[in-house]
Amino acid sequence: MAQIIDGKLISAKVKDQVKEQVEKLNKQGVSVGLAVVLVGNNPASRVYVNSKKKACAAVGIYSEEHTLPEETTEEELLSLVQKLNADKKINGILVQLPLPRHIDENKIINAISPEKDVDAFHPQNVGRIMIGEFDFLPCTPAGIMELIASTGVEITGKRCVVIGRSNIVGKPMAMLLLHKNGTVTICHSKTQNLAEICREADILVAAVGVPKLVKKDMVKPGAVVIDVGMNRLDDGSLCGDVDFADVQETAGYITPVPGGVGPMTIAMLMQNTVTAAVLQKNAVVITD
Ligand code: GUN
Repeated sequence: MAQIIDGKLISAKVKDQVKEQVEKLNKQGVSVGLAVVLVGNNPASRVYVNSKKKACAAVGIYSEEHTLPEETTEEELLSLVQKLNADKKINGILVQLPLPRHIDENKIINAISPEKDVDAFHPQNVGRIMIGEFDFLPCTPAGIMELIASTGVEITGKRCVVIGRSNIVGKPMAMLLLHKNGTVTICHSKTQNLAEICREADILVAAVGVPKLVKKDMVKPGAVVIDVGMNRLDDGSLCGDVDFADVQETAGYITPVPGGVGPMTIAMLMQNTVTAAVLQKNAVVITD
């Protein structure tokens, strides 16, 4: 029976550390601020944005929300991003994705000042991650690395399989595992023999958005299984990309949904915002 990786508990520890850092910075007269931009009426995005604002309040980060209507033009959004780039109170800018279809996401991401890009989605930050020279990491993969570290399982030399090739999770996740000396395979919708490849994984990360795709017969006994999925079923319940009840019997460690990866993403966003403020203001977090 797998051990459950408690993302809620681990994220609470990260947020406690962030809170201490913010308090120390505040004492030096350095404030930390995050702007969260939400365009349109995507209900899942609304929930995520609310959680991000709540986390800011809990750790002492100043936050402001900019909610824009669905029909906002690309020019209007670009002009808001430029305003936030120039705003001294704001150290981090997060434009919640997905954006409405008439807005070019890449154009918006490219407009965010790389120093304030706490998602690490800007091409400059993506490139820096590729060469291992980064200030901050994309929040979900960074959170997953913390979850894997909490198991005590070494990544070096292990077979790592990432299902999903998104810019937000799959691709950067593979890169972080590679930086930690994993032997990494990225699978996607066109992959042949998916089950066979997954069965080789010591560390398996599922980030495809297909409810309960990963079954017991796709998991090596004892493997670390990380479920990034957040799928809403017809009955309104939430489920991951992993069939939890089935895989729990085989895996060594497994993340639940909810309460696994989700809370970690937000905790790492808080950490990135502090890092951004420290870099912008040439500050240091003085430790006692
Ligand atoms: N939508 C889903 N995940 C994310 C994320 O990590 N950042 C942003 N900006 N949008 C998202």
